[in-house]
Amino acid sequence: MYSEKVMDHFSNPRNMGEIEDASGVGTVGNAKCGDIMRMYLDIDEDTKIIKECKFKTFGCGAAVATSSMATELVKGKTIYEALQVTNKAVMEALDGLPPVKVHCSLLAEEAIHAALWDYAEKHNITIEGLKKPKADIHDED
Ligand code: FES
Repeated sequence: MYSEKVMDHFSNPRNMGEIEDASGVGTVGNAKCGDIMRMYLDIDEDTKIIKECKFKTFGCGAAVATSSMATELVKGKTIYEALQVTNKAVMEALDGLPPVKVHCSLLAEEAIHAALWDYAEKHNITIEGLKKPKADIHDED
């Protein structure tokens, strides 16, 4: 049911933890399953490159695997490039997810966006193409 990559990132998650004094933090959740994901970004002021990205996920295995993969994908990218790390990109990088688990990967995309939004707000900048996150915890499939 799960790809080897999903199993690998679930049993050996990369970048788990938190960043003290992070440049941006985003927390999102899914009210139906109750899972919560938080992303921390450490962003270089000059280059706008994401130097470090960590996550904390209170959720299912797929949510852990997608958080882990998402952090790997955004690391080293600029804040603008990080917008391309959609849930689709995360799923592709994991060699797919079962349909009932697609919403878990959506949390990863939303958590990155929420963290970028937090960064933009704190620094008074606009990130082209970034939309304001909905409520922190929302109810959506
Ligand atoms: Fe909700 Fe996976 S079941 S995030």
